[in-house]
Amino acid sequence: MAGLNAHYSARDIEARIIAAIREAGLDPGQRLSPKELGALDHFHTGGFSASHELRELAQIRAEDRVLDIGAGLAGPARMLAAAPGCRVDCLEMSPDFCAGAALLNRLTGLDDRITVHQGSALDLPFADGSFDVVWMQNVGMNIADKRRLYAEICRVLKPGGRYAFQEMATGAASTPWFPLPWASDPADSFLVSGDELRALLAEAGFVPEVFEDTSEIHLSRTAAAAAAPGPLSLAVFVDNLAQKAGNARRSLEEGRIRLVRGVFRVK
Ligand SMILES: C[S@@+](CC[C@H](N)C(=O)[O-])C[C@H]1O[C@@H](n2cnc3c(N)ncnc32)[C@H](O)[C@@H]1O
Repeated sequence: MAGLNAHYSARDIEARIIAAIREAGLDPGQRLSPKELGALDHFHTGGFSASHELRELAQIRAEDRVLDIGAGLAGPARMLAAAPGCRVDCLEMSPDFCAGAALLNRLTGLDDRITVHQGSALDLPFADGSFDVVWMQNVGMNIADKRRLYAEICRVLKPGGRYAFQEMATGAASTPWFPLPWASDPADSFLVSGDELRALLAEAGFVPEVFEDTSEIHLSRTAAAAAAPGPLSLAVFVDNLAQKAGNARRSLEEGRIRLVRGVFRVK
């Protein structure tokens, strides 16, 4: 999990989450809503609204069974479990994020609709054809073996199933500035261009329904100087967040990286 956090233990991350919730004036003993936790648990560019938009783009319905790969603290999974009301399986490599996700699932009363599994995106612990939708936000950047990743996603999707994602891609200009939220240095970052991403997905057996470069939209929406983060922030578990987020923004502004999203269907 290089670049992401200071390797807190599961107990540390649970304690930090509870402390942040209290500091924000919320009561962890009362049922919390996924939206009020959104600044804490949507660990990707664009936060809760980016997840909301991807849900609409992928036309996710209550009856869809969803797999969220690299689910982190499972903020997007809780959004989908709350509305439209899907059953979601989360697959996450880090045991501490798995513990934080399970805690937040309980605090939101959504633990009956969400199951957290610790494991690797490259060896998914699910039978072939298990899911209607595979969801992945800001995870591909940490995975070098994209052919295997997309083969696994294709395998666990039902015929006609959708893969909904957002991630960073390479830009035309040189390399990004480090450290970044997903990688402390270049050895941890595995970006490909938008064209390469599409070609890899086609090779794995997907056809595009939507593919968009949302870099400019994202930059224009976040043009105003960001307000200082409140107690519920990614800084609860990401070291040097201001520096990493600043480098991501500067790299995006200078065309060193691009923000892309898409919905692809299994042939
Ligand atoms: C930037 S976070 C995004 C978390 C979540 N998708 C979200 O948007 O809130 C990336 C997550 O992917 C997980 N991850 C990275 N590589 C993985 C892999 N090979 N298998 C499973 N999880 C992985 C990391 O542990 C981390 O929690």
